[in-house]
Amino acid sequence: METIDPRILELREIREKAKQGGGKDRIDKQHAKGKYTSRERIESMLDPGTFNELEPFITSHTDESTIETEKYLGDGVITGYGRIDGRTVYVYAQDFTILGGTLSEMQSHKICRVMDLALRNGVPVIGLLDSGGARIQEGVKALGGYAEIFRRNAQFSGVIPQISIMLGPCAGGAAYSPALQDLIVMVEKKSFMFLTGPEVIKAVTGEVIDAENLGGCDVHMSISGVAHLAAQTEEGALSLVRKFLAYLPSNNIENPPFKSTYEQNTCDDGVLNNIIPLDPTEPYVMHQVIERIVDKDSFLEIQPTWARNAIVGLARIGGFSVGIVAQEPSVLAGVIDIDASDKMTRFVRMCDCFNVPLVTFVDSPGFLPGIAQEHGGIIRHGAKLLYAYSEATVPKITIVTRKAYGGAYVVMSSKYLGTDMTYAWPSAEIAVMGAEGAVNILYKKQIDEAPDPAAERKKLADEYRRKFNNPYMAAGSGYIDDIIEPCETRGKVFAALTALKDKYAPAPPRKHGNIPV
Ligand code: HXC
Repeated sequence: METIDPRILELREIREKAKQGGGKDRIDKQHAKGKYTSRERIESMLDPGTFNELEPFITSHTDESTIETEKYLGDGVITGYGRIDGRTVYVYAQDFTILGGTLSEMQSHKICRVMDLALRNGVPVIGLLDSGGARIQEGVKALGGYAEIFRRNAQFSGVIPQISIMLGPCAGGAAYSPALQDLIVMVEKKSFMFLTGPEVIKAVTGEVIDAENLGGCDVHMSISGVAHLAAQTEEGALSLVRKFLAYLPSNNIENPPFKSTYEQNTCDDGVLNNIIPLDPTEPYVMHQVIERIVDKDSFLEIQPTWARNAIVGLARIGGFSVGIVAQEPSVLAGVIDIDASDKMTRFVRMCDCFNVPLVTFVDSPGFLPGIAQEHGGIIRHGAKLLYAYSEATVPKITIVTRKAYGGAYVVMSSKYLGTDMTYAWPSAEIAVMGAEGAVNILYKKQIDEAPDPAAERKKLADEYRRKFNNPYMAAGSGYIDDIIEPCETRGKVFAALTALKDKYAPAPPRKHGNIPV
């Protein structure tokens, strides 16, 4: 019989122990909650058999009373690297079975190690979070550990994609680090994000708050705008990340992967050419426009249930990865409000830093007027969107499908914000404001003094519409590059993306701009 070196046997035993995390009971508890362990999650997300673990022997340095191998090995986080669709990614997965996955000095060391390796090698870093936040018994060491992570999150932003998947109760720093990253994915009823957990709130204020209502998936997907994508299951969330990464390059120097395998949409079925109602007050569904222009089933909408009057998402057009920004005229008429401005701004900047061209569809009556919006700082929030489009150097293509009134015309990637190709459909209405509002201001006296003011107003509004409710005035003055039939859009955008693929537009040197946050 072959004899095995006892030191090898010991290593095997220790490795086996490390795999057990916080022990069988806690693993059973995790499974009973319908949650997977961190190792199971990593296996499910990465290409099979590609995971290589790093620093599994690290332990907490708080308790020095026992020898290393008798402590929890790994200190509540599993780190390493593997592949997604054949491309290298670095991963860290917090292990809730060890001290609630909480962040210690050494856990921070492990996470920072894979972040540094990801940056050095220009590849994404993905966090699978399931953590009670800063480990209370480590005091300032845990807080300092978070600071190390936050600094890297900020400094690596725009260099490599950083993604967080929330897979449990993520409190304190476990919520802030994801907030500094490019994508947050949550799981319905299973993941939570809050700065202060319900137990702590109860202890401090006596208030009893349900975790779901405090920071559940619905809250962050539909009310706060903190999260970007949601799934019903952990597997669903992990596969969303694989899907998201397929549109992005591994770093800011590369271009996004080109995939010509998608089935092409045909635009000649007559549907697009009849999609805009003849009555300008009648809504239509912009999502249907987008679905008919992008490669079949390629649209991955981001933040689909927050600020639904704006649409943002990744897609492919003829194999090119693109960022779609649009209004949804069937929600609040596609008006631009504070949340819509924030949603579009963040997405425009993410696409710009990762070389994803922007395709913008415009149908908006303008910024939402009123006290609530003015007091909420719509000037500041809307300015972010102007800033983001003006600053973006990726190829920019705009299609005005219907209303582009006032600020909405200017802000939504208009030609002189630096857009490369601007198109309008024959249904486009490009003007400072709609007909009724405009004639009331321009011809107030004439209307008031007319024998039949209502008839006079209607006559003037009809004249205004004839003049402005079409794209010909804008095109005649060079504010639109071409007027096209809706069914030509896909071909035109593909041609533009091909022509612009080597676009070079370096920004003037500066430390960084001062975006009005
Ligand atoms: C140390 C912690 C911990 C913490 C949980 N645990 N949170 N240990 N520090 N912050 C431990 C528990 O003692 C328990 O250990 C195990 O993790 C599982 O926790 P449970 O409470 O049994 O689980 P559950 O009922 O699912 O509740 C999870 C929870 C709750 C919602 C996360 O534990 C909680 O509210 N924790 C505090 C969250 C919080 O407010 N953190 C903020 C930290 S401040 P055993 O041994 O029994 O398994 C912060 C500042 C960062 O992060 C700075 C930001 C700028």
